[in-house]
Amino acid sequence: MIDFGLMPIANGFLRPSDLGAEVRYPLSVVACPACAMVQLVDVVPPEILFPAEYAFHSSTSDGMARHFQRLATDVIARHSGSVPFVVELGSNDGILLQHVAKAGIRHLGVEPAANVAAEARAKGVNTVSRFFGVEVARDIREQYGPASAMIAANVLCHLPDIHDVIDGVDVLLSPDGVFITEDPYLGDILEKTSFDQIYDEHIFYFSLTSMEALFAPHGFCVVDVEAQPVHGGSMRYVMARTGARAPGARVLELRHRESTMQLKAAATYADFRARVETTCAALRDLLVRLKDEGRRVVGYGATSKSTTTLVHCGITADLVEYISDTTPGKQGRLSPGAHIPIVPPSVFAAAYPDDAILFAWNHAAEVMDKEGEFLRRGGRFLTYVPDVRFISAPT
Ligand code: TMP
Repeated sequence: MIDFGLMPIANGFLRPSDLGAEVRYPLSVVACPACAMVQLVDVVPPEILFPAEYAFHSSTSDGMARHFQRLATDVIARHSGSVPFVVELGSNDGILLQHVAKAGIRHLGVEPAANVAAEARAKGVNTVSRFFGVEVARDIREQYGPASAMIAANVLCHLPDIHDVIDGVDVLLSPDGVFITEDPYLGDILEKTSFDQIYDEHIFYFSLTSMEALFAPHGFCVVDVEAQPVHGGSMRYVMARTGARAPGARVLELRHRESTMQLKAAATYADFRARVETTCAALRDLLVRLKDEGRRVVGYGATSKSTTTLVHCGITADLVEYISDTTPGKQGRLSPGAHIPIVPPSVFAAAYPDDAILFAWNHAAEVMDKEGEFLRRGGRFLTYVPDVRFISAPT
């Protein structure tokens, strides 16, 4: 489908002293003509992707906090079952389960990263620090009984051993329980040409078509779907054991919509690839022009996605002065591949640049809201999703 060649680790923000040690890995995605699954060809070993100090914090934006609160409310109201026991895979710092805990509902978070698991426990969230699969599912079932609801938010697309995870859901879920999973949606990626969603940590790019093909052999079917605005456009899938519940109208509707998207056709991906190259060329040309005009251009949000954009589009450090980011662990480091310095937002606010490329375009509304002063002083945010353009008002 699309071959990005050799790419640095997307979240591999470098210490200046580690510059010479940067390693690149092949990054390419393929689409299955039979089931529409889009996935990486090569998987970077997890010990390289997720070194001990790696910590993705779900609680990085107000938008995500609100999203998880809404999901928790929905799970509590509709899916906790007659003997409530809510299990979340990849429960991170407890951003979702804290609400379930506060409601006094039995729950368990499964979070392999020890540091964020500890943060969750500090919020009163019962958490076990292990990688979820059949073995862990058996242990949990033995200790707590079956789960009435299981949740995996932006988790499944990261897991190479996905069949073992689904088998684990099969072991742990009660006969009438639901498994709720949400991930970046292939339909959004294609529609918005958001090629920067493609990086080493995202192994799968799901659609309803591929989800149904993946889960059916395990005895599950999709009974509801709901588009979500998070992570640049996600889809929530509610699964139940086959025959336990009938698929709702939204499933039938999305099935129909996906059939018109031609997700199994090679031409769909050839067209996507062409649009990616057009966007990249337009972005690079614009940055060169802005530099020629003497404008100061910076980046906003050192996202993992930005690595794909910077490296694939050939944007070099001379075109982007720095990238502002709120994450303390990224500040003082260099962006993977392009080696652009990452600085705290105080640097951005101390001497506003002329223009800022919004690498965190998935948080556009929140950023626009908080950077009113930059905009009032004539600053411009530049995006490349769905195409290259300046944005000066909340989107
Ligand atoms: P995400 O898209 O994976 O959630 O990553 C967002 C990145 O952008 C993360 O490194 C934090 C950063 N960020 C800012 O620097 N400022 C902001 O206002 C927001 C919302 C995010």
